[in-house]
Amino acid sequence: MKFFLDTADLDEIQEAASWGALAGVTTNPSLYAKIGGKLDDFHAHMKRICDIVGPECPVSAETVAMTRDEMVADGLKLAEIAPNIVVKIPTMVEGLAATKELAKHGVPVNMTLCFSVPQALLAARAGARYISPFIGRFDDISQDGLAEVGNIIAAIGNYDFSDSTVNGEQVEIIAASIRSANHVTQCALMGADIATVPFGVLKKMVQHPLTDRGLDSFMKDWEKVQNA
Ligand code: G3P
Repeated sequence: MKFFLDTADLDEIQEAASWGALAGVTTNPSLYAKIGGKLDDFHAHMKRICDIVGPECPVSAETVAMTRDEMVADGLKLAEIAPNIVVKIPTMVEGLAATKELAKHGVPVNMTLCFSVPQALLAARAGARYISPFIGRFDDISQDGLAEVGNIIAAIGNYDFSDSTVNGEQVEIIAASIRSANHVTQCALMGADIATVPFGVLKKMVQHPLTDRGLDSFMKDWEKVQNA
């Protein structure tokens, strides 16, 4: 499983990148609004993120266009920001058509706001490079987000979509709307290719009370060695 950071905050991205396990970044309009992002700075901000993580790490930048042609035009402009930009498009009719067109142009697409197996299958067939099923938002309405992600992973894994994607790559599932380290565990056990996590969850993923306790006792014992 690879880890993406789900944020538009440059400090968080810088910090997570320095830890050595970051493979990409996902953003959305809400995350950009959260950091006080301005409309005329959007492309420049996405470029800053691309520069921090480097060319090997995909950075998802979301379109807010609502028609196929506007999404394609917006997506082509976003793709000019940097070679590692992935255009994020909502899973809807216009989004599927735009994904198909952008894939023809060699632009990778992350289909977002995906909540069901049929949506995911359509996204893969339209040529999405990534599909982002949401977990936490199911949990928000007292439904089982993990179960749905498991269904999507299993269904997508039943087929070969490489003839639909840019450069014949396999579509990858990004488990999104992750709210806890346990969500990450369960997604990894189900075989999600990627988890995109908020910085707070990434920090919790590193922690374990037995690690802290073990480190504490090692340090105390080493002090004894030094004083022996
Ligand atoms: O990547 C999508 C994700 O940001 C949505 O998360 O917590 O707003 O449901 P959340």
